[in-house]
Amino acid sequence: VAAKTDFITLAHPAPVADETRVQWLENPGFGTLFTDHMIMIDWTEGEGWHNATLGPRRPIELDPAAAVLHYAQEIFEGMKAYRHPDGSTALFRPEANAKRFNVSARRMAMPELPEELFLEAVRLLVDKDSAWIPDMEGASLYLRPFMFASEVFLGVRPAKRYKFIVIASPAGNYFKSGTPAVSIWVSSDYTRAAPGGTGAAKCGGNYAASLVPQAEAIERGHDQVVFLDAAERKWIEELGGMNLFFVFDDRRVLTPALTGTILPGITRDSLITLLREEGLTVEEGRYSLEQWREDATTGKLVECFACGTAAVVTAVGKVAGHDGDFTIGTGGPGQLTQKMKNRLTGIQRGQLPDTHGWVTKL
Ligand code: COI
Repeated sequence: VAAKTDFITLAHPAPVADETRVQWLENPGFGTLFTDHMIMIDWTEGEGWHNATLGPRRPIELDPAAAVLHYAQEIFEGMKAYRHPDGSTALFRPEANAKRFNVSARRMAMPELPEELFLEAVRLLVDKDSAWIPDMEGASLYLRPFMFASEVFLGVRPAKRYKFIVIASPAGNYFKSGTPAVSIWVSSDYTRAAPGGTGAAKCGGNYAASLVPQAEAIERGHDQVVFLDAAERKWIEELGGMNLFFVFDDRRVLTPALTGTILPGITRDSLITLLREEGLTVEEGRYSLEQWREDATTGKLVECFACGTAAVVTAVGKVAGHDGDFTIGTGGPGQLTQKMKNRLTGIQRGQLPDTHGWVTKL
C-alpha cells in the first residue's frame, strides 16, 4: 500500500536549455539559474503531509488570498550538494538542516516536517538533478527547501494548508568573484531582530527586514550590513545572512552567542568544532562595536570572518559606520580565515577526511 508521502514522479515537458547552462558557466553567480526539477509536498489540517511529487520545476499557482502573501508565514533552509573527486555526490550535515527547519516551523506556528521526509525529498531532488552539480572549484548545487502557508484565508491565525517545496540552483561565489575580503557597514538606524522576535528562525521576513539596511550598505560602497542588538544597540549580532567570528592575537576566537536573536548557523557550528581542533579557544559571547574598533586599531584583533552556507568563509577586511572606518589586520584574508575555509570546504568536497560524520553520500 502506498503511503501518503510516497513520492510520485511527474513527466517533464521542457528541461532548461543547454545554452542557458553554458551562459551560466561563463559567469557563475548565486541564485540565478535553477535545475529542471522540484519536490512538492502538501500539508492540510487533519490529513497531514500528503501528495509528495518529484516533478518538473514550474511556476506554482497561488490564490491571491493565500496566507503567505499577507502575513509572511514562510520558512526556508540553505544547503549544498557537492561533487566529490570520485564522481559521487555528497551533502553536508543535512540532518542539521532538517532539525533547524522544524525549529523555524515551531516558531512560525507551522507544521513540522518529519526529518526523514525532509531528507528523502532533498536526496531525491539531488539525485534526479545530479548532472547539475557544477564541478568547478568553489561551485556546488545550492538547495533551497522552503515551506509556506497556502490556505486561502485572511484571518490572522496559523494557516490550515501549507506547501513544502525544494528547488535547486547551481551556485558559484555568493560575493562577486575576486572579492578577497568584504567591507561591511554597521547599521545604526535598523536592527535585524529583537529579543522574543524571530531572529533565530530562518523565516523570509528576517531577510525582508534586512534589505533596506543592506541597500544602505551597498549605496555607501560596502558589501554587507552588520547588525547590532536591538535592546542596547551595542553588541555585534550578525550580517544580513551570515554569522561572524573574531580572531585575536592570543589564539582566542569569539563568535556572538546564540541568544535567540541570531540565526544558529550550521557553518558557524562546524567552524567552532574545527577551530577547537586547531587548538584555538573558542568563546561564544558578547562583543561590542566599541571593543571591535579598539581591538582592530590596537592590533589585538588580527582577523575577522563571516560564514554561512552561501558565503562559506569570507574575510571581513573593513568596517565602516557613522563613527568612522577601521581596518582589520591587513584588510585582506588572514591566515586562519584561509585555513578554516580550506578545512571546511576540503571536508565538504571530499578532499579531506570526514572525521565528524558530517558528510552524507547519496
Ligand atoms: C545561506 O547561507 O544559505 C542563507 O540562507 C543565507 C542567505 C543567502 C539567504
